Amino acid sequence: MSKKILVTGGTGYIGSHTTVELQNSGYEVIIVDDLSNSGIEVLDSIEKITGTRPAFEQFDISERVKTDDFFRRNNDIAAIIHFAAYKAVGESVEKPLDYYRNNLVSLMNLLECQIKYNVPNMVFSSSCTVYGQPEKLPVTEQTPRKDAESPYGNTKRISEDILRDTITVNPMLKGIALRYFNPIGAHPTALIGELPLGVPQNLVPFITQTAAGLREGLKVFGNDYNTPDGSAVRDYINVADLAKAHVIAIERLLKNKNKSNYEVFNLGTGTGLSVLEVVNGFEKATGVKLNYKIVERRAGDIEKIWADTTYANEELGWKAEKNLVETLLSAWNWEKRARGI
Ligand code: NAD
Ligand code: WQD
Repeated sequence: MSKKILVTGGTGYIGSHTTVELQNSGYEVIIVDDLSNSGIEVLDSIEKITGTRPAFEQFDISERVKTDDFFRRNNDIAAIIHFAAYKAVGESVEKPLDYYRNNLVSLMNLLECQIKYNVPNMVFSSSCTVYGQPEKLPVTEQTPRKDAESPYGNTKRISEDILRDTITVNPMLKGIALRYFNPIGAHPTALIGELPLGVPQNLVPFITQTAAGLREGLKVFGNDYNTPDGSAVRDYINVADLAKAHVIAIERLLKNKNKSNYEVFNLGTGTGLSVLEVVNGFEKATGVKLNYKIVERRAGDIEKIWADTTYANEELGWKAEKNLVETLLSAWNWEKRARGI
């Protein structure tokens, strides 16, 4: 059986870590990425870590003709892990059509090619954003989804529905949607990590850039939430742990261990941490003092969310292993290496 996996968005943050784990587990990877949010040098880093350079093609998978041509030429793909998408929540509010077009058309192109070229398996990157602010915590996979706060969030909810509905009427297709909570950290080698373009929107890159002197200070958005210390609570999951879950999901599909043709899993640690706990954790892990101040809440933020990971623990046999200190340290080592500090 072919062990060739198409990783869309494979030079990106989560895709690069997953490519490393796939290659380390004996899979052959072909990456497709348009490099709209990543750099070609990531391939060198993956090669340094694993000893193998993944195959690579640069094109935009929202372009139907190019995507079709790719599958016509690559007729031995066993499964797809579909990471490629735009992901900046704030930008999606400004440019909704760019987000709907890129995220939805790309998925539809892939599904059409899967049917046409007989590629049965897809693992899809979804997000805890589909839950909005849940009534009850922690959230299980059965927690009702809510209207999204942003076009980006909407694309994840609609993508899940497109995947589910397409699988329902095409019994040759199987899919697993993985709902990530907040991925953070970098590979322990510090050779790959998250390198946001421009000013980071996410907490941990902002923290590491502040510590590196690129940002003057961190703004903590709100200390009047109904949480133990008043700052907002999230479930921060180490990116290398997250990557390993994708290898398990691929194996589940390839070995027909799935319970139904469309499955959903939460991927988090199961523990909620406040913004201030992350800030303190960073200072403790690195010994670097952070310049931060409390400011108003950020528009569109929810108060608190964390995952119930029982289903992933029991069904996938997967559990987050790395603790906050080592994860924040990995993010800091990556930032230092990227900045030559
Ligand atoms: P990323 O931006 O680092 O990686 C995405 C990659 O896809 C980039 O390399 C980009 O160049 C590429 N890409 C985008 N559109 C493309 C297209 N049309 N054709 C080809 N390549 C394209 O993002 P990431 O953090 O690695 O996220 C990966 C996936 O996980 C995304 O679908 C994202 O929505 C989802 N997700 C991310 C988070 C997070 O916090 N990072 C949380 C939940 C879900
Ligand atoms: C975390 C906490 C902020 C920056 C986003 C997407 C979500 C998912 C993950 C893709 C919040 C606070 C942040 C800062 C701060 N992505 N914060 N100062 O908003 O939970 O989730 O990424 O699917 O869809 O919405 O992540 O890292 O932006 O924020 O105080 O400078 O840190 O208010 O409480 P978020 P985040």
